[in-house]
Amino acid sequence: MTENIVIGIGGAGTMGTGIAQVVATYGHKVLLYDPYPEQLESSRDSLNQILNRQVEKDRMSEEEVEIIMSRISFVDHITGFKKCDVVIEAIIENLESKKDFLGRIEGIVSRKCIIGTNTSSLSIASISSGLKKPDRFLGIHFFNPAPLMKLIEIIPGLTTRDDVIDKIRKLITNWDKISVISKDTPGFIVNRVARPFYGEALRILEEGIAEVATIDWAMKELGGFRMGPFELMDMIGNDVNYQVTETVFESFYYDPRFKPSFSQRRMVEAGHLGRKTGIGFYNYNDVSKNPDPVKDRQLGREILNRILSMLINEACDAVFMQIATPEDVDHAMINGVNYPKGLLKWGDEIGLKNVLDQMTALQVEYREDRYRPNPLLKKMVRQEKTFY
Ligand SMILES: NC(=O)c1ccc[n+]([C@@H]2O[C@H](COP(=O)([O-])OP(=O)(O)OC[C@H]3O[C@@H](n4cnc5c(N)ncnc54)[C@H](O)[C@@H]3O)[C@@H](O)[C@H]2O)c1
Repeated sequence: MTENIVIGIGGAGTMGTGIAQVVATYGHKVLLYDPYPEQLESSRDSLNQILNRQVEKDRMSEEEVEIIMSRISFVDHITGFKKCDVVIEAIIENLESKKDFLGRIEGIVSRKCIIGTNTSSLSIASISSGLKKPDRFLGIHFFNPAPLMKLIEIIPGLTTRDDVIDKIRKLITNWDKISVISKDTPGFIVNRVARPFYGEALRILEEGIAEVATIDWAMKELGGFRMGPFELMDMIGNDVNYQVTETVFESFYYDPRFKPSFSQRRMVEAGHLGRKTGIGFYNYNDVSKNPDPVKDRQLGREILNRILSMLINEACDAVFMQIATPEDVDHAMINGVNYPKGLLKWGDEIGLKNVLDQMTALQVEYREDRYRPNPLLKKMVRQEKTFY
């Protein structure tokens, strides 16, 4: 079935290239479009390189690589898109460009073709306003790197048909990925619920409670997270991470829960973007300059409790505001950002009352709205309920 479905991808950048790898690996014919021929060339080179590395590691044969590559046509025009059954747009994050591109696509594809966008921060509603038939349009949000990350968030628009959602869910399962359904709200599930992982870590740093290495140590050693918040910010890039926080903050009408941090802003202003510039919260040019963590377990537990409670509170809000089901929120955080456990399950395990007590203590101490306990969390504790 997969073999017969032709997929068009708009934009041969990081995401478009990764998505092409995923769908070609699972048997689809792919048209990968970019208006810039040099971008197409670099996409082809990078795919060849990535797949050949699989051959070196004995995970794939040369023949398989050839077959996968032969399924992808790199094109600098969209006329061929008329035979596509699904089109996924992954061009630059600019509303007018996306509307223009999808309007042109709609003029070419059949009425049955499903059209998706991989946007991270624009609303599905705003992009769909450029389409004549938005009932076959939805968000199909991959995570970077697309071939490695299991999660895909599906974001229906106001008029997306159920059969369109069902078809995309089935396709995602065929690609051996996990889908969750999110309401069309800023940051969808992952980029919204994950904000305190960075924000509260930065706040703890700013208050002088602990240094970067100690906070990272606490989250990894005591929390089981694969990477600490600062290591992760350095890997994502402080510019990218700061931009996401700022967008979420503005989109939530400046809710203090999502307030960006001056410390991170200064890093961006100074060009300390992380791994890609050799320096961020850590020094990658001279690792001897990086301080060791203070391995004080009591301090570590305080740090973990504070960040984790903020995360669980945020996960409760996503359920409270009907963004997603508890199961989807948990799947999203495990498969989209590699959390060691679903946050709501984690909340059940440590006791929702303990989470509420931590949030209340922070709110009493700081008198900041940032720390307000979520109404659903309060209700669950009052009714002595758990999520699972
Ligand atoms: N990078 C990530 O971590 C990530 C994760 C999830 C979603 N996204 C989203 O995916 C989309 C693409 O992101 P990216 O990181 O791959 O960006 P990118 O800059 O690597 O690639 C964008 C591509 O779009 C092409 N392009 C620019 N203008 C175009 C136009 N008018 N028509 C067609 N193609 C055009 C560019 O040549 C480039 O190849 C964005 O919407 C982004 O928000 C990115």
